Amino acid sequence: MARCFVTRELPGDALDRLAAEHRVDVWGEELPPSPEELLERAPGAEGLLCLLTDRVDVPLFDACPELRAIANLAVGTDNIDLAEAERRGIAVGNTPGVLTETTADLAFALILACSRRLVEAAAAVRSGAWHTWEPRGWLGHDVHGATLGIIGAGEIGGAVARRAAGFAMEVVLHGREPRPGQVDLDRLLAESDIVSLHCPLTPETRHLIDERALRAMKPTAILVNTARGEVVDPAALRSALEEGWIAGAGLDVTEPEPLPADHPLLDAPNLTVLPHVGSASHATREAMASIAVDNLLAALAGRPMPHAVAT
Ligand code: GLV
Repeated sequence: MARCFVTRELPGDALDRLAAEHRVDVWGEELPPSPEELLERAPGAEGLLCLLTDRVDVPLFDACPELRAIANLAVGTDNIDLAEAERRGIAVGNTPGVLTETTADLAFALILACSRRLVEAAAAVRSGAWHTWEPRGWLGHDVHGATLGIIGAGEIGGAVARRAAGFAMEVVLHGREPRPGQVDLDRLLAESDIVSLHCPLTPETRHLIDERALRAMKPTAILVNTARGEVVDPAALRSALEEGWIAGAGLDVTEPEPLPADHPLLDAPNLTVLPHVGSASHATREAMASIAVDNLLAALAGRPMPHAVAT
């Protein structure tokens, strides 16, 4: 029986399966443990089930010499120092696949909401600003027939492209691997009516969408980010929205997270920000918890994780 530290309460009953085999300590607070709290509470753990809000790095590895397995409740693993985990022989797993369609749904919801100004229009109803059917009011841009630029041609990008086909959109892709239909980044930015980000956060993609990229987009274009906040430079995005380099943006992820309510980016016009809910459906979050537990159970039993991350 190994000691496992779980950094949040999880939906569903997956943790019961972990507790049936191991000694499970769950961080029960409403907010995640701070790095200091993690360093205090995790030591002694052989298994760690953590979230994208937890930094899993050298100080934590040093404090947890018994650690053998890390299961991240996310597909992204940018919160974990993977090279260091590999050096120490610690298995790392993630939760791919199950959140692909749910995250693509959310990306498409942002594409529709931003293009048709839904959030603004709904707020106007509540504030009493809906006076009549307005021939020139709340005009947005059509999604059907528009050109959608997908940056990051992995599973989620592919799932967004499938949805786009139902809206008769033209899809252009840009990703790491060469593939048919792929275009270079500058062409994608120049041609797209909507740019949707689906790439992982890496040193190459940090602030990929910077001032240069935003200025290369059409003034009528919408930017949607459901990947990682750090892919977009927030100061450049604020200028882009204020000065009209682009028409709007929908962000499910931000830099930093959470975005403080008084953050200057929130003063920018035509911006919709969500609290990182891409995978937040009941079924998907329960499936993610189940996979994370499967990963831990396998590694602690000396078997390969079913969803091991290549380190
Ligand atoms: C969520 O953002 C994830 O990486 O799963």
